[in-house]
Amino acid sequence: MKNALTGKVAIITGAAGGIGAATAAMFVRKGAKVVLADVDEVGLVRTAAAIANTDAVRSLRCDVTNVDDMEAAVRLAADAFGGLDAAILNAGIEGDVKPIESLTVREFEKVMAVSMTGAFVGLKTCFPALKTRGGGAVLMTSSTSGKIGAAGLAPYTAAKHGLIGLMRAAALEGAPFKIRVNTVNPCPVETRMMRSLEQGFSPDDSEAMHRALIEAIPLKRYAEPDDVAEMFAFLASDAAKFATGGVYMIDGGMLAGLTRA
Ligand SMILES: NC(=O)c1ccc[n+]([C@@H]2O[C@H](COP(=O)([O-])OP(=O)(O)OC[C@H]3O[C@@H](n4cnc5c(N)ncnc54)[C@H](O)[C@@H]3O)[C@@H](O)[C@H]2O)c1
Repeated sequence: MKNALTGKVAIITGAAGGIGAATAAMFVRKGAKVVLADVDEVGLVRTAAAIANTDAVRSLRCDVTNVDDMEAAVRLAADAFGGLDAAILNAGIEGDVKPIESLTVREFEKVMAVSMTGAFVGLKTCFPALKTRGGGAVLMTSSTSGKIGAAGLAPYTAAKHGLIGLMRAAALEGAPFKIRVNTVNPCPVETRMMRSLEQGFSPDDSEAMHRALIEAIPLKRYAEPDDVAEMFAFLASDAAKFATGGVYMIDGGMLAGLTRA
């Protein structure tokens, strides 16, 4: 719906990336004001430049693992737009594709820090502002990797599974304050991250990996960033006012069951 987010203020982390940029643009098209947060300052400029309504956009360099940075994002939402209604905790990194025995603890922890602890920091810092507003929505980008495993992707799989547990605890804590918390779980999406993973899984023929993954998706394509953005927009809107504690697949049927060739 066109104006479904009119009057809403959202922080979007990972806003310089494929899904975050599409979500920011869609939120503004649907009437929201957005704070774009990312460590990639060049990417932030690119995301903001793609949005015609410049009055509806503010950006800041923000590392989601850093409490001070996230508090600055919340303050920017309040100072520029008067408060906060939605936090889209979307920043994540995939890490290298490697078997567990070859991974260092540091490599494991790096993926966990951004892709899971970052969402904890987002919850911790955004909850007070959402309470002040009388409620709101927190959405985390999990993945099909939050529901099933992938060999070579242990840290990412652990982080994306972990987000579902974190979301459930937060949904229970948020409910008395009308703060709804949900995960959105996409299958492969057409962004930089999938190009990197295709290359990691199949260094000699990443295009073959691309085709194989599409074969595993009943609707026979990757998700587009806008497919994911639409799900965020619905869950952040008042139309989803009774939806909390949920895992929302946007996966073309990938986890519905085994497909036959
Ligand atoms: N692309 C996919 O196939 C896919 C599928 C399922 C879930 N996801 C998830 O969607 C989210 C967005 O991914 P994407 O596909 O847009 O990838 P992307 O790499 O294009 O975007 C990720 C963004 O996160 C930012 N980021 C990394 N570390 C950060 C930090 N410490 N603080 C703030 N920002 C940081 C990056 O700079 C980048 O802009 C991720 O959580 C990813 O795991 C992606």
